[in-house]
Amino acid sequence: MDDRVPLAPPRSRRSASARSANGGESNIPEIRVLPFDRTFSTDDGEKILLAALRQGFYLRHGCKNGGCGTCKAKLVEGEVDLPPGLMALSRDEEADGWVLLCSSTPCGNCTIDVSIMELNENEFLDESAST
Ligand code: FES
Repeated sequence: MDDRVPLAPPRSRRSASARSANGGESNIPEIRVLPFDRTFSTDDGEKILLAALRQGFYLRHGCKNGGCGTCKAKLVEGEVDLPPGLMALSRDEEADGWVLLCSSTPCGNCTIDVSIMELNENEFLDESAST
């Protein structure tokens, strides 16, 4: 008799390195944002973009569902879950470490570089732009 449990559908997992951003273990993933060197936390299963906006950090975004690419950022350290088949992220981009923050769920502490968004620190910290 085969008593194996069926596996869940495969998910894409993007890893920048085997270590978390600070090397520690935590149940609450922390996201370090470069080039500003600011950190925010994410709730269980929360997407990185939504966690940032909820806590008053502005990151460029549009559709919030993986379709436009506006929230693209570089995963420098850590690991995220990405759903398969994202319209705005090619396989080559994913292989080069790019992620879509609206669709990325951190697996632990991560460091992301949002330099491509061309935000200055005042824009990044502008709570009024986060809603
Ligand atoms: S906001 Fe459009 S792809 Fe993330």
